[in-house]
Amino acid sequence: MTKTNQERLLEWLSDAHAMESEAETMLKGQAARLEHYPQLQQRIQQHVEETREQARLLEQRIEALGGSRSTIKDALGSMAASLHAAGNAMMSDEVVKGSGMSYAFEHLEIATYRAIIAAARKVGDAETEAVCRRILAQEEAMADWLAGHLDQVVLDYLARDETEGQTAKR
Ligand SMILES: [Fe+2]
Repeated sequence: MTKTNQERLLEWLSDAHAMESEAETMLKGQAARLEHYPQLQQRIQQHVEETREQARLLEQRIEALGGSRSTIKDALGSMAASLHAAGNAMMSDEVVKGSGMSYAFEHLEIATYRAIIAAARKVGDAETEAVCRRILAQEEAMADWLAGHLDQVVLDYLARDETEGQTAKR
C-alpha cells in the first residue's frame, strides 16, 4: 500500500515518540540504579530531562500535522525498555552492558531523526525539520559524551570488580 510522504512523515514522528518513551524508561531505570558511577548517572539524568522535552516537541509536531501519538506504540516501547533493563539488572556487569545499550540506542535515535529530517525537507515542512534538528543535536551530544566516557566507565568497573568488598555492577 502506498503512503504519501506526508503520511510517512507523520508515522515516523509517532515511531520517534514511541522510541523516546522507550529511551525515557531505559534511562530512568539506569539512573535510578547507578550508585557508584556518579558522572555517568548525572549525564543520564540530564538526558532524561532532554528526552521528556523531545517527546513533548514531537507530540506538538504530530498534532500540528493532524495526527495523534500512538499510545500502543508508546506502551510497547516502554515495555521493551523495562524488559531489557530487567535483563541487564541480572548481570554482574550491568553498568557496562547498560552503557553499551545507551550508546547503541543513541545511534538508533540519530538515524531516526536523520530520516525524519530528510522526509520533512522533502515535503517542505520547515517546522518539523527545525524541531528534529534540535533534537538530533541533543542525541549527537549524548552519543559523543558516551563515546568519550565509555572507556573510563569500563576501567572504573574493572577496578571495582577486582577489589574485595566493592560493588562494581552499578
Ligand atoms: Fe532522544
